[in-house]
Amino acid sequence: MQNYVSASILSADLLNLESEIRKLEKSGVDMIHFDVMDGIFVDNITYGLPVLKSIKKLSPDMLLDVHLMITKPLKYVREFAESGADIITFHIESKSNTMRTIEELYKTNVKRAIAIKPDTPAESVFPYMKYLNMVLVMTVEPGFGGQKFMDMTDKIKKIRNYADENNLAIDIQVDGGIDDKTAPVVKKAGANILVSGSYLFRSENLAETADNLRKAVD
Ligand code: DX5
Ligand code: ZN
Repeated sequence: MQNYVSASILSADLLNLESEIRKLEKSGVDMIHFDVMDGIFVDNITYGLPVLKSIKKLSPDMLLDVHLMITKPLKYVREFAESGADIITFHIESKSNTMRTIEELYKTNVKRAIAIKPDTPAESVFPYMKYLNMVLVMTVEPGFGGQKFMDMTDKIKKIRNYADENNLAIDIQVDGGIDDKTAPVVKKAGANILVSGSYLFRSENLAETADNLRKAVD
């Protein structure tokens, strides 16, 4: 499976988002990870539709990987799709009906994904995997950047095995505490899309750090 790096702009300099995105374009990362938080599903509030639209306008060719940490994703997926998302991930632990949210995603052109928190078992996502392009396994409790990596090796392996046994070509994304040390661990377990926020943006040279991350899994 091909490996991808998705840069979480939660750790970017938001006052200078335009120049941060230009840097990302040059750095060779594959997508921008856009974390939407509503202060209810998680204890933090970030940004939403108008910011996503502006990024799409600024960088139309960059893939926008939208991670919805919100209570009622069903209500909003269509608007996020219309605002420029290429992938939309919602949480299975949200209050929206999972199958209805997937059906709503089918009405759009975006890729469909479900995220699971550290305490949610792999099996919870199995019944939905045939309808999905990606599963996001959280390697921290969602809400904040810069947290310590939690090892989800067994969960990733179970999801990858289920996909293989059922001939499902599905991406497995990991999000939280990913750096050059933890990337090989999740890769070995079966993940192929690495989200990285603080590791990328706190580094001196973003392009070099993105390269290190890629080398750690290639
Ligand atoms: C956390 C977010 C992450 C976060 C990752 O709830 O979903 O995308 O930005 O940040 P790092 O890479 O710093 O753990
Ligand atoms: Zn995220």
